[in-house]
Amino acid sequence: MSKYYHIITYGCQMNVHESEKIAGILKELGYIPADKPESSDILVFNTCCIRENAENHAFGNIGMFKKLKAENRDMIIAVGGCLTQQIGKADVLHNKFPFVDIIFGTHNLGELKNLILKKQAQKKAVIEIKDSAGIIDESGSPYRTSYPNAWVNITYGCNNFCSYCIVPYVRGRERSRKPEDVIEEAKSLVAEGYREITLLGQNVNSYGNGTDYIRFPELLGKVASIDGKFRLRFMTSHPKDFSEELAKTIAEYPSICKCVHLPVQSGSDRILKAMNRKYTRYDYLKRVETLKKYVPDCAVTTDIIVGFPGETEEDFEDTLKLVGEVGFSSAFTFVYSRRDGTAAATMPDQVPEEVSKERIMRLVELVNAQTRKISEAYVGKTAEILCEDYDAKKKLYLGRDEFGRMGYFSCSENQIGNFVNLKITKANGISLYGEITG
Ligand code: SAH
Ligand code: SF4
Ligand code: F3S
Repeated sequence: MSKYYHIITYGCQMNVHESEKIAGILKELGYIPADKPESSDILVFNTCCIRENAENHAFGNIGMFKKLKAENRDMIIAVGGCLTQQIGKADVLHNKFPFVDIIFGTHNLGELKNLILKKQAQKKAVIEIKDSAGIIDESGSPYRTSYPNAWVNITYGCNNFCSYCIVPYVRGRERSRKPEDVIEEAKSLVAEGYREITLLGQNVNSYGNGTDYIRFPELLGKVASIDGKFRLRFMTSHPKDFSEELAKTIAEYPSICKCVHLPVQSGSDRILKAMNRKYTRYDYLKRVETLKKYVPDCAVTTDIIVGFPGETEEDFEDTLKLVGEVGFSSAFTFVYSRRDGTAAATMPDQVPEEVSKERIMRLVELVNAQTRKISEAYVGKTAEILCEDYDAKKKLYLGRDEFGRMGYFSCSENQIGNFVNLKITKANGISLYGEITG
């Protein structure tokens, strides 16, 4: 009889890719994908704790499976990811949800197979949280679910300790994969027919630090030179390490998308300093200027936090001004969320929620107006889209152009994985609509 698995993933691309690695492990154990959690023999939650609501969301969802587990005692429920790695959280989870069978930390992924076997042999829950990462494990192969895109890690962990951020605590110190491992993986993905490769790291620009490996721009160039038609993306770039050489590399290789995600977080020097971001507003604008010097049409996207402790109306207005100056093509905006254990958690002058909410509304309005303007300028132009998916509700295919714009179109044949030229006929907010021209 077949055994089924289902994975529920929260959080960033790093987690999405890690779920593909979990799926690879489960396949090795003979499990096959279930279409819904209720039909699975093993249900895995791959959690996130970047903000309080991410954490609450996971807690709420796990709780919903208590009844299912009571009805099907043979089912295994496992919880992994960033949430479990926070100090003391595994015990909180275990006490709150005694029906959860396995709790594993971010550094225990390589042992998941053994943890499952252990659980199958014992009644009590298996809880394994290692407090630091070992050497990079290159064994095992992910079961990829994001065709035509393929995620490829280049670094794990983070050393930056931005004062608001939990990631360095739950993902450990930065480790870089060997360049030859990255290049080999990318080569075989292109040979298998993947059309887009996204290199992943919390800060790709610090790739190779503390090693004698090549640096990020060179690695990027080597991956970009692989034979075959594919697109290359990378994320995330920390502005403090964004170099002129990287801008030149982006300009040099046609396969590298002209779209850079460069999280600014704030436009106020005072707040940037308190955030421990290690660049000023001026530095940030200079880096964008350098990028545009080599890649004039490059799209720049960003992340912004509002309501960081001590943020005044004036600081916030500096952020609004910066958004106007850079002309981001899109931005993810977040209300600051206090994370236990981070430096900012104990800073004075935590901003009241209603102030943050009012600020984020103003910010979103500005960002949306800018995004709309950029989208509208596309109407009448032709964009090359890599078709990624089919939206069953809209009955339209969708994909992105190299600047990261989402384009929708209708077609009677399956286009997923194809590059199509779209004549843009309509723009609606961030989305573009068009017709295939070839
Ligand atoms: N390593 C990446 C992404 C980290 S998490 C980087 O440095 O950009 C993605 C985004 O979540 C961050 O860029 C930040 O804008 C946001 N974020 C992180 N911690 C947060 C917190 N405590 N409250 C609100 N937003 C946060
Ligand atoms: Fe968090 Fe900063 Fe590291 Fe990004 S660079 S993961 S925001 S500590
Ligand atoms: Fe990603 Fe969330 Fe962890 S954003 S690194 S899954 S805390």
